[in-house]
Amino acid sequence: MCGIIGYTGDDRATLDVLLTGLEGLEYRGYDSAGVALANGSLAVYKREGEVQALKNALPDASVEGTAGIGHTRWSTHGPPSDANAHPHTDEDGRVAVVHNGIIENYQALRDELAARGHVFASDTDTEVIPHLIEERLEVGVDHETAFREAINRLEGSYAIAAVFRGSETVYAARHESPLVLGVGDDGHYLASDVPAFIEYTDQVIYLEDGEFATITPATVTVTDETGSVVETVVETIAWDPEDAAKSGYDHYMKKEIHEQPRAIRQCLRGRIAEPDGGITLEGLADLEPEGMVQFVACGTSSNAARYGARLLREHGIPTQTFLASEYTADAVPVDEETLVVGVTQSGETADTMRALREANGAGATTLALTNTVGSSAARECDHVCYIRAGPEIGVAATKTFVSQQVALALFTGALVGDSDPAFLEGLRELPELVQTVLDSSRAREVADAYVDADAYFFIGREYTAPVAFEGALKMKEITYKHAEGFAAGELKHGPLALVTENTPVFALLTAGSRLEKTLGNVKEVQTRGAPVIAVTDVPEEVGRYADHVLEIPSTHPQLTPILANVQLQLVSYWVANRLGRSIDKPRNLAKSVTVE
Ligand code: F6R
Repeated sequence: MCGIIGYTGDDRATLDVLLTGLEGLEYRGYDSAGVALANGSLAVYKREGEVQALKNALPDASVEGTAGIGHTRWSTHGPPSDANAHPHTDEDGRVAVVHNGIIENYQALRDELAARGHVFASDTDTEVIPHLIEERLEVGVDHETAFREAINRLEGSYAIAAVFRGSETVYAARHESPLVLGVGDDGHYLASDVPAFIEYTDQVIYLEDGEFATITPATVTVTDETGSVVETVVETIAWDPEDAAKSGYDHYMKKEIHEQPRAIRQCLRGRIAEPDGGITLEGLADLEPEGMVQFVACGTSSNAARYGARLLREHGIPTQTFLASEYTADAVPVDEETLVVGVTQSGETADTMRALREANGAGATTLALTNTVGSSAARECDHVCYIRAGPEIGVAATKTFVSQQVALALFTGALVGDSDPAFLEGLRELPELVQTVLDSSRAREVADAYVDADAYFFIGREYTAPVAFEGALKMKEITYKHAEGFAAGELKHGPLALVTENTPVFALLTAGSRLEKTLGNVKEVQTRGAPVIAVTDVPEEVGRYADHVLEIPSTHPQLTPILANVQLQLVSYWVANRLGRSIDKPRNLAKSVTVE
């Protein structure tokens, strides 16, 4: 998966717009970056590495061009290298192309083009596109026709942008990869995601699958597959540009952990009626599942899904959770009464999208629980519930996880219809309680004490088991250290063999999650010499069994896991910080995983 940006306009330095845009998109991939600027010639600069490496490689003299495109890459075909970085061009340098997605028939196209004498400069699937365009230009068609005819040869997923030598027009096409247009006073933009250009405009048009866009400094035209002009809706994005910047924090992840009270408020806003407490989720009023509710999700989102599934089950609604990547292979029974909920903050995760499409094909009703307006999940599902976390730049999901949990709590309340007043009160006070955890956390001391540990284990039970999984996922993701999360009862069935005096165990010991049983597991690990860190709302009860206590305020037992998770996020953050890790962009990972 990758990020693309395009701009055409007279009033801004195109190169600056592209570079700023690429920085806003680096969360989508950061193993190489490049830009192409169209003027009398076509200037292409690209480098392996982060956007900074590209900046270092730019010539001292100003690089000009009215129209330009840029790309930040996360490799799928061909390892990171200068040659494999986008943009890619034809041999004569007439057209430059950037692409996010995967061209499934690229090998056949490449063989065909090579047989006609085309010479390729990279290992990428993308490079077939400029060569296909070049062939069409040679038969004398105009830029737009050449672009369109080339795109029509592609199979797979793509968001593509192209610029031509001597032209101030940017051409784009979308199929199963995100692409949004920005309508500005000083020119027009396109990008994989809004943070790329939010500094310049908040007016956007989301392209649909199969649509093409032609942008010039003065016009934006969207056409369908047949070339007919499509009527578009310009939407205003509510994010302010500050949201997409670090606001003085050392890392986006830290900023996003601290934004959680606000994210929760946004998620709750207008959804719990006063004074009766009825929960309404816009667009879901008619949703009354008659059969099984299945959750499909990956990674952190699957931990949120487990939490949501448990909430529903507790209210008598039958649920199942599946890792989206296994959903198809598992031959899961689905029928017209099944509701399949895709939990996906990006709304673009390929595994989750495949599962949702499969469910859709089998006649199920689908619901996207997502952060991303206009994402594939939001468009393709029958229903959408937005988690409203705002943009999350750090690769490790933090505020989107909390917002998913809160949205799932609301979803449960909306389906069940008569929520427990104590639960509603807990939801209302959740932002303040998370703030209390942030203000008083001793996670940094714990991180300092155990930064040299061999591995970290996390145990939880019932509602806190998904938080144990999430605590471990966060730890391994940003510290690169071994970490595992277990349902506490499983410890003695194997993992206990790993426990030593150098493997701290984070025990989620909260009232309402069968505390006494988990305390039994704590004793098992203590006997093997492991230090124990209790994350608890009853410190006086469990403090004497632990080497350290990370306290959380008391609340409704179904909401306690949300608070416990914040402590674990902070511990991982501080361990990674002490180890000097690349916290916002951990190695080998990307924010939005649009390949299966
Ligand atoms: C971990 C993380 C990933 C994502 C997963 C699914 O911090 O962010 O595990 O949760 O890739 O992503 P979405 O929610 O976009 O479908």
